[in-house]
Amino acid sequence: MNTFLNEKSNGKKMVDKVFKAAVAANIAKQKYGDEVVNATLGTLFDEQGKFVALNNVWGPYETIDNVQKAKYAASIQGNPDFRDAVYKWLFGGLEEEIKCEIIATPGGAGAISSAFKNILSPGQTVLKPSQGWGPYKTMAIECGLTLTDYNMFKNGEFDLLGFKKSLNEVMDIQGKVLVIINDPCHNPTGYSLRPDEWDDIIDILNDLSSKGPVILLNDIAYVDYTVEGDSWKNHFAKYNRFNKNVMTIIAFSCSKTLTAYGTRVGAQIVITKDKLQLQNFKDAAIYSARSIWSTVNNSAMKLFSLIAHDEYLLKKYKVEKQKYVNLLEERAEIMVSESKEVGLELYPFVEGFFVTIKVPNNKEKEALNLKLQKANIFTVEVDGGLRVAICSVPKRKLKGLSKRILELKGRK
Ligand SMILES: Cc1ncc(COP(=O)(O)O)c(C=O)c1O
Repeated sequence: MNTFLNEKSNGKKMVDKVFKAAVAANIAKQKYGDEVVNATLGTLFDEQGKFVALNNVWGPYETIDNVQKAKYAASIQGNPDFRDAVYKWLFGGLEEEIKCEIIATPGGAGAISSAFKNILSPGQTVLKPSQGWGPYKTMAIECGLTLTDYNMFKNGEFDLLGFKKSLNEVMDIQGKVLVIINDPCHNPTGYSLRPDEWDDIIDILNDLSSKGPVILLNDIAYVDYTVEGDSWKNHFAKYNRFNKNVMTIIAFSCSKTLTAYGTRVGAQIVITKDKLQLQNFKDAAIYSARSIWSTVNNSAMKLFSLIAHDEYLLKKYKVEKQKYVNLLEERAEIMVSESKEVGLELYPFVEGFFVTIKVPNNKEKEALNLKLQKANIFTVEVDGGLRVAICSVPKRKLKGLSKRILELKGRK
């Protein structure tokens, strides 16, 4: 072929719906000012519309010396003190030990895409939730994979039967399953699985593993924003119940946890009883790291371990972050209760950064989004609906929003 790019990359073009909608919102804001509701961005903003950069994160960052900021990381796998900090952060409250390997990655995105690359071969299929974070698709395509959805909801709760059916279908075709579960605080719906739903999922995956290897990719990008706080992390003990033919990869991210989105730090935490395969995964992940991004941001890894290992700093961080967990709860309460009151249907919501208005029909969804934009309300089109990022909209703008949206929906 007579092109500079190879066949696979020629014609590849990134259209990021979130950034596109955010640009439109910013243009409107310049024209119409405060009347614009910008519910596009998945980053925290306070009630004054200011971007939240936690003082108890960025204060301690200033104490890290320039040499550390300038240096390469100590290891491709991630600095040892960072890996210890990740273990403590996630599993520190558990009674039992979690036997795992931890590999630092550039954010949760790095953890997820590297897992795709090393778990499946081109042409194979990864399972994602029917409502899911957009980049799963981009990452899969980049790795030459196809995607299949499992249905997320039935009768207001997790569709366990649909989940089981979809996983078995993929297993029967390719003899292996890689499935993404984004929990807690699912993006874009704000659903968090109940403990009994997780128990059933674990049983389903264990049963499935009699047919072939099963890999659970648990994307926990929002783990530090559940209303349950650190006690939610007791959940991780359940991963010790998996059979030898199941591997769990937890994709952890400092982006939301520390309000450190731009520092690009996260980790893969890999758990399986199969010691040889655990070692093989670690080796492959380090190889991929060296060949794609090399090492992870040294000063941000230092920052995370500084906060995680210092009880005083950790306490201050938790108190400050809790303010935003509470704020998210207050914002959600407005959106969810008003939607219920006026009859605007949302996907099942529990907690987190987002709620999603249910619009399963694509044409209707696009039409509604256009109507909202004309009324200076900016949301993001996602699978089966419109995502409202309550993390970035102050309470005063959420009040009455459901009613406005419903009225616009009914208008020709
Ligand atoms: C569901 C989900 N997973 C993972 C990520 C990863 O983010 P990052 O790569 O910044 O850690 C995000 C960020 O928006 C997300 O919403």
